[in-house]
Amino acid sequence: MSKESTKRAFVAGATGYTGQQVVRILAAQGVEVVAHVRPDSSSLERWRERFEGWGARVDTTAWEQGAMTATLSELRPELVYCLIGTTRARDKNTEEDAGYEAIDFGLTELLAGACAAGSPKARFVYLSAMGVSASSSSAYYKARWKAEESVRESGLSYIIARPGLITGPDREESRPMERVAGVVSGAIFKGLSAVGADTLHDRYAPTDAVELATALVQRALEATDDAIVLETPRLRCGRL
Ligand SMILES: NC(=O)c1ccc[n+]([C@@H]2O[C@H](COP(=O)([O-])OP(=O)(O)OC[C@H]3O[C@@H](n4cnc5c(N)ncnc54)[C@H](OP(=O)(O)O)[C@@H]3O)[C@@H](O)[C@H]2O)c1
Repeated sequence: MSKESTKRAFVAGATGYTGQQVVRILAAQGVEVVAHVRPDSSSLERWRERFEGWGARVDTTAWEQGAMTATLSELRPELVYCLIGTTRARDKNTEEDAGYEAIDFGLTELLAGACAAGSPKARFVYLSAMGVSASSSSAYYKARWKAEESVRESGLSYIIARPGLITGPDREESRPMERVAGVVSGAIFKGLSAVGADTLHDRYAPTDAVELATALVQRALEATDDAIVLETPRLRCGRL
């Protein structure tokens, strides 16, 4: 990639299972990557070592509207990734399900707003989930729909990606139930693919972080339309 065409990307959620692979693949594609790590992360030095080893740099801006706007205004990235979210197990500090509203929706809305104010020409890449819709009823899906709406209403160009189960043996955080579901459904869909049911496989089989991140990078680098929603089949385009 020539110097003139070098793009810059800001990756929020860089420490997550998907985020790490997005950072690695973007950097390998010659994109200048700023990997965001929350300032109070107890593993900041470990993340710095890993991301700098891949050729990215680390930013620790606080999750605060003014601070995030100032950072994005200074960096002016062409791509802003929002790959964050909590789980019930992880979010022990808030009331049942309140974490989805505060983090999955709240931080996405904050980042989209900061991006629109600080780097309005950037494309915002939001990692949502399969099945999210206006009629979603669970707290998780409702928060994700509100987060999608905040992205659509931000005025930014965007990609919203809706993968199914994201899992693989390389996930560092232990999620045994997710792993079991991934192995079982992966085997079922592999079997279906073998008998020619590729459409079902493409739509519902789990994806791992490398496959998903490859799609999130490739689709963003090639995107020309302003408003793109990628369902699972379009999130399968190989592995980088
Ligand atoms: N897992 C699935 O099967 C699945 C399926 C469809 C969609 N999704 C959605 O896709 C997204 C990414 O999935 P993943 O499995 O890659 O996620 P993950 O490994 O759980 O990573 C989540 C990211 O969000 C950050 N985060 C969580 N709480 C935060 C907080 N309070 N403040 C700031 N940052 C916070 C984490 O930062 P720290 O490392 O600092 O905690 C981490 O970078 C998730 O939001 C998830 O809802 C997941």
